Amino acid sequence: MKREDETKILQFITKVQADMKTEEHGKQLKLLFSNPIPYGVSILLIITIGLPFDLPVVAVSGCILMTIFFLCKVQFQKFWKEMSIIFSSNGEDLTNLSKFYLENEKKRLFLIAEYNNHVIGTIAVRETEREGTGKLWRMFVDPSCRRMGIGSKLMKELFCAVQHLEYSSLELRTHETNTMAIEFYSRHGFRERKKTVFAEVFPCKLHAILFQKQLKQVETGF
Ligand SMILES: CC(C)(COP(=O)(O)OP(=O)(O)OC[C@H]1O[C@@H](n2cnc3c(N)ncnc32)[C@H](O)[C@@H]1OP(=O)(O)O)[C@@H](O)C(=O)NCCC(=O)NCCS
Repeated sequence: MKREDETKILQFITKVQADMKTEEHGKQLKLLFSNPIPYGVSILLIITIGLPFDLPVVAVSGCILMTIFFLCKVQFQKFWKEMSIIFSSNGEDLTNLSKFYLENEKKRLFLIAEYNNHVIGTIAVRETEREGTGKLWRMFVDPSCRRMGIGSKLMKELFCAVQHLEYSSLELRTHETNTMAIEFYSRHGFRERKKTVFAEVFPCKLHAILFQKQLKQVETGF
């Protein structure tokens, strides 16, 4: 792989991950604002502090709501710091793509989709600590090209290519709010195996989902 191709791929991955990060930030803020716990605690405090001491309701409510809002902001910042590593563009493969994938060709694979000399999609497989199980990752399609079958085409190519590797199953992890990926992987025969807490700072919480697929034959669904 030429150096300029690697640069194009890295730029593509960095951009898609940055877009995903911005989108996820919005999703998580929405979840925080729709979480009933901060509102419940505020109401409870307003009743228990305001009523017995006969304090002005508006002033007490204002103070309590501001305090809860501030505490939520601090907690959210801690939570976001913990969870946003999902979108980090660091990775042992990204420092030198061709070296990483070529040095273990029996277990690693990296495919790209191109259009007009632009990278519009990527997918990769690498080994896990469990013999016979490969990890699917770097599954990205350019936002302007989604829902056009490009992800499915990459997946289909990968299922063909992976037959020459030493895997009987593939697994991957994604986060619970990534509904498009969850739907996409389910369409390609991956089944949910395990849900674990990935990041938690009260009242925010995010689960990671482990998906797995047994490899038997070439996919023909798409
Ligand atoms: C997930 C992703 C790779 C799918 O690529 P794509 O090229 O858009 O997928 P396809 O067009 O082949 O879609 C195949 C099927 O997946 C499902 N799907 C894809 N995007 C979806 C979405 N936004 N919402 C719901 N279902 C979706 C649908 O079932 C779709 O079939 P349909 O279009 O006939 O309904 C792409 O959305 C993406 O890059 N997302 C951001 C990166 C990411 O989350 N990667 C996974 C990290 S673990």
